[in-house]
Amino acid sequence: MEFSIKSGSPEKQRSGCIVVGIFDTRKLTPSAQALDGASRHFLNEVLRRGDHDGKLGTTLLLHRVPQISADRVLLVGLGREREFGEAAYRTALGAAVRALRATGASEACICLTELALKRRDTAWKVEHAVLAVVEGFYRFDRMKSKPPESKRPLRKVTLHVGKRAEIAEGEIALARGQAIAEGMTLTKDLGNLPANICTPTYLAEQAVELGKRHGLKVEILDQKDLEKLGMGSFLAVARGSRQPPKLIVMEYHGAKRDAPPVALVGKGVTFDTGGISIKPAAEMDEMKFDMCGAASVFGTMKAIALMRLPLNVVGVVPATENMPDGNAVKPGDIVTTMSGQTVEILNTDAEGRLILCDALTYVEKYKPAAVVDIATLTGAMVIALGHVATGLFSNSDPLARELLAAGETAWDRAWHMPLWDDYQEGLKSNFADFPNIASRAGGSITAACFLSRFTKAYPWAHLDIAGTAWKSGAEKGATGRPVALLSHFLLRRAA
Ligand code: BES
Ligand code: MN
Ligand code: ZN
Repeated sequence: MEFSIKSGSPEKQRSGCIVVGIFDTRKLTPSAQALDGASRHFLNEVLRRGDHDGKLGTTLLLHRVPQISADRVLLVGLGREREFGEAAYRTALGAAVRALRATGASEACICLTELALKRRDTAWKVEHAVLAVVEGFYRFDRMKSKPPESKRPLRKVTLHVGKRAEIAEGEIALARGQAIAEGMTLTKDLGNLPANICTPTYLAEQAVELGKRHGLKVEILDQKDLEKLGMGSFLAVARGSRQPPKLIVMEYHGAKRDAPPVALVGKGVTFDTGGISIKPAAEMDEMKFDMCGAASVFGTMKAIALMRLPLNVVGVVPATENMPDGNAVKPGDIVTTMSGQTVEILNTDAEGRLILCDALTYVEKYKPAAVVDIATLTGAMVIALGHVATGLFSNSDPLARELLAAGETAWDRAWHMPLWDDYQEGLKSNFADFPNIASRAGGSITAACFLSRFTKAYPWAHLDIAGTAWKSGAEKGATGRPVALLSHFLLRRAA
């Protein structure tokens, strides 16, 4: 899809469809007013007849509006003017994109970017418009035998800003939005692929491919290498699978060689059956999404490479399946992690932390400025925060604040969870240094406590994306989160 920025007379915009906003008092926004003026009050006439009332998220498509260069006019309800903020802006954009998809227009001019938002500038509005359009037109069809019959695809999108002076700022934001959107698309594609295709080996191949295209240094460590490194915990999870495990390492160099990198570590369980502590059958198919943390590392590496951020970043992905098998790890088995600490595996379904702990020890060799791990780690996270916020845990308050702020800007929000010592109490084993689970209470926090025992050497944050990485039900599919959050975190670090 091609994007551009324009200012100037909306009534003269040649386009398949021009999109303008209406507040719920039937007040026209500047572009709507321009169309109304040029068309001898065609829009006001439609509103007067009661066909559209400006309620937030509603749309009305008009054809053959007189004296207008665009083929169609799409009215989008913005709700109450006084309440018009980030959330309403995003809702209106989403509704506009859904309505656009139902038309045959191959070009669109979206004027919502001209609307004033408290605390948000042109750049923010443009970036979010790009993300909303790409998100709204995303489809995952590659596993269908025939491509579904579809309308003419949208090829060109023009974003309309109020003043000429905003164009330069808008163009920078456009490039940024497109980079983040491409990263999110990669993350969604990898997440949506079934586990019989998206294996650890497939992920490793995709990393090599990504490296070739975007100039990343990629290294794939296999079973033998993992043994040499002493990753007893990661290897224990992989034992039950016919698919060989891979440790994927991607380095992006945008700053001086010796500048300490930010490390991103993503959980790459390509399918989580639970292992011997097997999961119930219902919805188990969704455990193909258990590599969404890994996928978000891929997507973020792609986004920052496209943006050419002046920063060093290393992405590390431990990838494996978690399967039951005669050779699988069993409840009660004790393993030695790369850190030397021993773990009693009381539940083989708490496997994410078992692969992450070794990857978190591995990244110590980079002397990283900060480490962020991203994982679909606990069902308890979904209970705590639902599908809205990602759970954020950290051993460094400044790092936590950076990530929270990035999430706000990206509208890919996280919520700060406690990591107090009181919660460490539950991790006690009679036989090993500690177990891999505590009681059910506060399950996301005790999982983070487990990881914290491997992250003492650097500022570290953990993002539990179990509730935000994918959607269930009719709209089942990966969301691409938290690529936008991570990209903005790195943008801030690069600034
Ligand atoms: N991948 C799951 C977490 C998960 C479950 C995410 C459901 C999203 C939806 C993880 O490996 C897991 O199974 N965690 C267990 C931990 C428990 C055994 C302590 C869980 O949350 O039930
Ligand atoms: Mn599990
Ligand atoms: Zn899992």
